[in-house]
Amino acid sequence: MGKDVIIACDFNSKAEVMEFLDKFKEEKPYVKIGMELFYGAGPDIVREIKARGHKIFLDLKLCDIPNTVKKSMKVLSNLDVDMCNLHAFGTKAMMEAAIEGLTRDDGTRPLLIAVTQLTSTSEERMQGELLINKPIDEVVMHYAKNAMEAGLDGVVCSPLEAGKVHTVCGEGFLTVTPGIRFADSSVGDQVRIMTPAEAKKIGSDYIVVGRPVTQAEDPVAAYRRCVAEFVD
Ligand code: C5P
Repeated sequence: MGKDVIIACDFNSKAEVMEFLDKFKEEKPYVKIGMELFYGAGPDIVREIKARGHKIFLDLKLCDIPNTVKKSMKVLSNLDVDMCNLHAFGTKAMMEAAIEGLTRDDGTRPLLIAVTQLTSTSEERMQGELLINKPIDEVVMHYAKNAMEAGLDGVVCSPLEAGKVHTVCGEGFLTVTPGIRFADSSVGDQVRIMTPAEAKKIGSDYIVVGRPVTQAEDPVAAYRRCVAEFVD
């Protein structure tokens, strides 16, 4: 299971994402669809990209009462996504309800991954504003454990946390890691970054790569470089 490169298709419109995917003639990369594209283009964007043969990580980060999350996950499962996610903050009861909603009549379901703490939340804000009075690393690992106990498949985390997540939750618990940059590419707004090769060494299961591929002069070559460093 795992060891794949997921391209974050952070485009504003269906036309842009399709133009981007048209560049890939030989391979069918795993793609991440986020909120902007899903809310703007609607569920048909998922159906169309699936129909082209791509796997899809639908990054909608659900968080609501268990019954609402369960019913929403059922809709996503019927859309035939391969991976989706939620906030571990919503409690184990919510995560268990999510699994129930995702599980199809034949017992299959998409992978379900938890967000622990958003990387945009600093320890200072978490403690001062959200009144969670623990070190942020401890909170991230605790939420990862909750996700595992609720039956989820893994977490989204920084590649710098992937090794520790595996130590705490076991090697089979998936780590999906954004914050990936080539050694010679621009960092942009990401702070805690790793190269695809480093992410492989530390044990990430999936890397999520956006701008280093989508903004590259030759996106197919950039994608192949990620695969060569991370998978091959
Ligand atoms: O362009 P870049 O490689 O920075 O894109 C990373 C992708 O991963 C974006 O879609 C971003 O929203 C997402 N992401 C992240 N950090 C997280 C969770 C998701 O960068 N903690």
